[in-house]
Amino acid sequence: MAKNRVNFRCRECQATYPKWSGQCEQCGAWNTIEEFTPKAEMIASRNAPGGVAIDFSTMTDTGQHDGKRIPTGFAEADRVLGGGFFPDSLTLFVGNPGIGKSTLALQLALNIAKSATERSILIFSGEESVFQVKQRAERLGGIPPNLQIAATFVIEDVIATIVEHRPAFVIVDSAQTFSSREIPGSPGSMPQIRTITEMLMHASKTAGIPILLIGQVTKGGEMAGPQLLAHLVDTVLQFEGDDQHDLRILRSSKNRFGATSEVGIFAMTEGGLTEVTNPSEAFLSGRLPGAIGSTIYPALEGQRPFLVEIQALTATTPFGLPKRSASGIGLQRLSLLLAVLEKHANVKLSSLDVFANVVGGFRIDEPAADLAICLAVASSRNKAAVSEEMFFVGEVGLSGEVRAVSRLEQRLKEGEKLGFTTAIIPGSQKPPKSKLTLIPVRTVAEAVQKVLR
Ligand code: TYD
Ligand code: MG
Repeated sequence: MAKNRVNFRCRECQATYPKWSGQCEQCGAWNTIEEFTPKAEMIASRNAPGGVAIDFSTMTDTGQHDGKRIPTGFAEADRVLGGGFFPDSLTLFVGNPGIGKSTLALQLALNIAKSATERSILIFSGEESVFQVKQRAERLGGIPPNLQIAATFVIEDVIATIVEHRPAFVIVDSAQTFSSREIPGSPGSMPQIRTITEMLMHASKTAGIPILLIGQVTKGGEMAGPQLLAHLVDTVLQFEGDDQHDLRILRSSKNRFGATSEVGIFAMTEGGLTEVTNPSEAFLSGRLPGAIGSTIYPALEGQRPFLVEIQALTATTPFGLPKRSASGIGLQRLSLLLAVLEKHANVKLSSLDVFANVVGGFRIDEPAADLAICLAVASSRNKAAVSEEMFFVGEVGLSGEVRAVSRLEQRLKEGEKLGFTTAIIPGSQKPPKSKLTLIPVRTVAEAVQKVLR
């Protein structure tokens, strides 16, 4: 029989180690690690050599943090995160180049630095020089003494600094620019990105520190191995918007500590990103009254409804094959809705190019927008504007039927608040009490007929 192997365990937090050391990596306490002989090891050794029975007291113990969230100073970001950064979490923050990731991250760091004055905030920049980051920070409201910025490319140095400084919050900008000395491959290669993500995850968990890792995505919205990286982190934040607009939308596509349905809306200004507290107004600000091919849809993101404008343009196809193009709407969804319009509402589109767009760089995933999309297309096709005081909500089925949507009442209230008078709603759904004129429709054909005479 093999001799019982000796293990070491921290008296404070019960973390186990194969070797003795002076300081516990888990809780940071000194001289608390002592020898112990695991009782279950003899049984485990046959099937799982080296395994040690877990002491369940470690599971009721949250380790060195108290589970309290770290507020970001932006209600819009806190909502998306589920109440601020979780104490020992790794958050991947992705978006197109130039969208404002570094700016938002810096503003979060400045806010956190102001509220956690006794602890440091570290920014590791592989993209910009210390001077550049400092200059930006000055412009965004000055550098508090506890905010420290280092320009480096070596992940081992980052980890060592985190372990030594025990900061309140860390930013690593960006995943593509750091690399490990231990493995081959240039920065930005998949093995490198994977390794640094894993190392930061480990550092975040063992040191109990929230880390924000920035990642670039390509124009198509893909990060190098996005799915792979999403598995390795706790939360994935996305920053969206388009070059033509100042509005920026913060979403989470994965969140171990909150819902993924909430969005935060920001505007990029001279003084950095500011919160948009009335997104409906912002999204509708450039709207042309009486425009052909434009409809309004009350989107519902998480707990919050807001109105967005949908635009469509139909034009004669110069070449044989008609083109379909969508931004902010899935192309497949658009194609399906065009087929329904053609087949069930007699809106002839087969020889026309169709372009559809959600204004302000917003992206719609809900099928509740179907009716508004259909009417925008039909409005352009029939060269007839819909009333500017009207908005649309309803899912469209393959037979052209208009289906019920979730939380209709809340959506209608938002339209009412913004001064709209009329709503086109699913006829199959019991209408809620509302001051608006409600026009229930059972089919797309009925909607086209009632709205675009
Ligand atoms: P940045 O945060 O560097 O983008 P990312 O890190 O996602 O690549 O933002 C770059 C853009 O933001 C740049 O075009 C300038 C603009 N910007 C402002 O409009 N106002 C500001 O206060 C700042 C700091 C940047
Ligand atoms: Mg950047």
